[in-house]
Parts: sequence; structure tokens; C-alpha cells
Amino acid sequence: MLEIRPSVAAQDIVCAEVAAPPCAVVVFGASGDLVRRKLLVGLAQIFQRGLLSEEFYLLGCGRKKLSDQDFRQIAKGAMQENADDISLKAISPFVNKLYYVSGDYSDASFYSDIRTKLAELNKKHKVGPPLADTIFYLAVPAFLYGTIIEQLASAGLSCTGESDSKQRIRLVVEKPFGRDLKSAAQLNGIIRQCFDESQIYRIDHYLGKETVQNILMFRFANTIFEPVWNRNYIDSVQVTVAETLGVEHRASYYDKTGALRDMFQNHMLQMLALVAMEPPISFEADHVRDEKIKLLRSIRPFKLDELDSFIVRGQYGPGVIDGEEVVGYRQEPGINAQSNTETFVAAKLFIDNWRWKGVPFYLRTGKRLASKDTEIAITFKKVPHSMFISIGLDDIPPNVLALQIQPEEGISLGFQAKRPGSKVCMGTLNMSFSYKSVFGVDVPEAYQRLLLDCMAGDQTLFTRFDGVEVAWRLLTPVLEAWQNDDSVPYEYPAGGCSFPRADRLIESDGRRWRKIGELG
Ligand code: BG6
Repeated sequence: MLEIRPSVAAQDIVCAEVAAPPCAVVVFGASGDLVRRKLLVGLAQIFQRGLLSEEFYLLGCGRKKLSDQDFRQIAKGAMQENADDISLKAISPFVNKLYYVSGDYSDASFYSDIRTKLAELNKKHKVGPPLADTIFYLAVPAFLYGTIIEQLASAGLSCTGESDSKQRIRLVVEKPFGRDLKSAAQLNGIIRQCFDESQIYRIDHYLGKETVQNILMFRFANTIFEPVWNRNYIDSVQVTVAETLGVEHRASYYDKTGALRDMFQNHMLQMLALVAMEPPISFEADHVRDEKIKLLRSIRPFKLDELDSFIVRGQYGPGVIDGEEVVGYRQEPGINAQSNTETFVAAKLFIDNWRWKGVPFYLRTGKRLASKDTEIAITFKKVPHSMFISIGLDDIPPNVLALQIQPEEGISLGFQAKRPGSKVCMGTLNMSFSYKSVFGVDVPEAYQRLLLDCMAGDQTLFTRFDGVEVAWRLLTPVLEAWQNDDSVPYEYPAGGCSFPRADRLIESDGRRWRKIGELG
């Protein structure tokens, strides 16, 4: 394996991050799991890196009755459980900026309490005039989004009344954004009545991953890839998101959701869009988002009468993960024993545009697979002719460029080279670059990037209303077909990699899935 060395010292490459401007963060669903695992930890890490403004506070809102002190205790517990890089002593000034107010989400008086509290805390923490730079963060179950958004608007909390106020009050909406095209469009409709699109930050945490952002740098800050980034040189693309985790403690959410909604509609399609989109005119939020959406619009719709040849679903059965026996999906606590919810999706997509006509994009994602591996692999076309008499065309593997998203963040390029020995002796070498060994730092967690961008008012890494809808437009017919037919998901063993029907999807084209556990 060849290592890539940076051309300048690693410390010069890690660019200084700009600190966040003053802001108040108001979190709905504050005592929930997402806030404990991701949001509080992400903010504490930002604080520890010295990037949180002095003029900051967080107001947690929820149904549970808690005092500020209770909430701070919960926050400390969350740091201890979820982040080993956080020192409780070092972040105590951050913890002291956490407050809590309880109430009923559908009760107008809750929002007037919030308003009063914001006025008081803005003054105390010198954030600015009431409502200046306020982020409302929805970390509640999706069915509550509409109620909270409408209540915020009726309480006058969606707009400060100042001429530039729209940019200063922001609304962060977590996934899932709708269950299908209709519900997503309805939610967008409610948001549009209460907020301006420039205020909305729809989170897809994959877009906050350093390695996902690197796709754009890699493609558009180098000249050597763009000329070959098309159907003339690329044979096929594979996008894999494999997880070893099962449904964990999220049975009730997951059983109503499934892998197509949970992973495919958002993370998978977003990565595909970044790999395949045209160069945006600039790195401005709407320029990037326009190109991604244009790409998603060019994906060929699924033909319902031959669905199984293009998209298949699986569900994990019992098996072994990391040497331990684990139950199948239907035996998981809280899961319906007859559930047909898919935990695996494999699909073959075509992009009907000039650049990609005829190039298959194979995407797969699943839970309880052999290892955690997220990768985008671009396989180039084979050489057209072998001039080496003893080496046939089939003996010369194609070049594969692998963008490894996690857990080993990096890039590798496989190519053929002369091996020492007889005159015609060839082998595949891998030129590889690992983030960790080059930059020597742990890649910051996605939520840190997204929170910092939201505080800075940068929407580039957040999905726009039409981006969400175009993804649902593609997948809603599939969801309906799966719901209405009597077929059930194919079973695969926990700890496995696939199942025969998913393999046939790619093998019928004379190609193979890259092996989970050996990606990169
Ligand atoms: C979330 C899904 O969006 O992404 C989870 O809801 C999934 O089911 C998770 O486990 C995977 O994220 P990551 O960052 O661990 O790859």
C-alpha cells in the first residue's frame, strides 16, 4: 500500500475555524435522546474548542417538569455517557448557560413563558435585543413539528419585526422530514406560512461529516478528476452505508419507518447527489443546493412493474455480530413479531442526463451487517485492449477510487503496476490517504459542523424544501408498492453482508458488490 504524504505540515492544513457569533438556542424535546447524545455533546465540544461565543445560552423546553439544575445534571450525565473527549471541569461554564422551561407544546401559554424567559436570558447573557440571533431547534417526534411551528408563529416568535429579522431567527428541523411526498409537502407548507425558507435548516447529519464535504473539494479543487468523471470513463458507482447496530432503543420509531425512509431518502441520496452533480457556480448555499436538486431530478423513476430488478428490501434475522449471538429484527423488543419493515435496501439507479447516461449507481444500506463501513466507490472502465500477451483483458482489474466516509476516513485509488519478478508481472496497488494519519486529529463529529454553520447563518449543508420533496417524489411510489403488495422483505442473517436477491441486482449486470468489511 502506498501512503500519501501531505505536501505541507499537517498543522498548516488544519485550518482555523471561525468562532460562532452570539446566539440563543431554544431546544424543543430537550430531555430526549437526540439532545442528550448529539446536541448537548456537540455544543460542549464546540465550547471546548473555544468556538462558542461568550454570549450564548441554551433554553431547553419539554413536557417533563425539570429545574435548571435537573437539566444541567442530565447534560453532565450525557457528556459522561457519550463523549470521552469532554472534561466536565472544563465545560462547567458551558453547563451553567443551560436553562429549562416546561409546558405543553399545544398550549399558547407555554410560548409566552418561553418569550418571557428569552427576554430575561438575552439580557443576562448579552445576546442582544429580544429574539436576536435565536435558533429554535425541533428535536421532538415529527408529528409535533406542525404544532410547534404554528405556535411559535402565533406567539410572534418566528420574526423579530426588524427588517433583517428573517435571517436572525432560525428554525432547525431534524429528520424525519415527512413520511412521503404528501406529508413532506404539507410540512413545507406549514413552515412556509410561518417562516421564510432562508430561516430553515433541515438537518441531514451526513452532510456535516468532513468526508462527505470533502467530496466537493475532491471533485472541484482538482483538475485531474473532472475530465474523467462521466460515462466515458466511469463504469459504475457503488454507495454503501453498512451498520452493525440494530434498532437499539428506537423500536417504535424504526418499525414505522424502515431503511428506505431512515437512510435512503436522505443520507444515501445526498451522497449520490454530491458525487454526481454538476459543478455549482460557487460554494454559496443555493448554488450548491440547486445543482444537487437538479441531479436528484434526473434520477430515472422506478418502473413499478419491474421494481424487484431495481430496488429490493431485506430484514435481518438472527445471527452473530462481533462473536455474539443477536436476535433477528422481529424478535427485537418493541418490534411487531410480524413486522415487514425493511432494515436493508439495495437499489440500482440511473441518472438520465448527458454526463451519466447508462452508468449504473448501486446503492445499499443495512443494519446488523458484518461491519460498519460507509464508502463511495467509483469504478472506472477497463482498459480497451491488453498489449501484454500473457495477460488477458479480464486479468487487468479496473481502477477503483474509493472515498471512505467512515469509520476509516480517507481516499484510496487502486491501480495496476509492474511487480518485481518476471518481465510481465502485474499487480494492483492501492494509493491511500487516511485523514487520521495525515492530519493527526480526530475528525470532528458532524453535529459540530452543522451547529456552527447554523449559528453563522450558512445553509449550504442543510436541505432545501425542494430537495426534500424531489427525494420523496422518487421513493414514494416504491413505499406505496411495498405497502400494497403481499411480498415480504428477504431475510439476511445478522452479521452477514447481503442476500441473494440483492446480489442478483448487480450480478445480473456482470458486476459484484464490494465486500463489506474490506471496503476502501
Ligand atoms: C440516522 C439513522 O440518521 O443515521 C440511524 O436514523 C442510523 O438509523 C444513523 O443508525 C447512522 O449514522 P452514522 O453517522 O452512525 O452513520
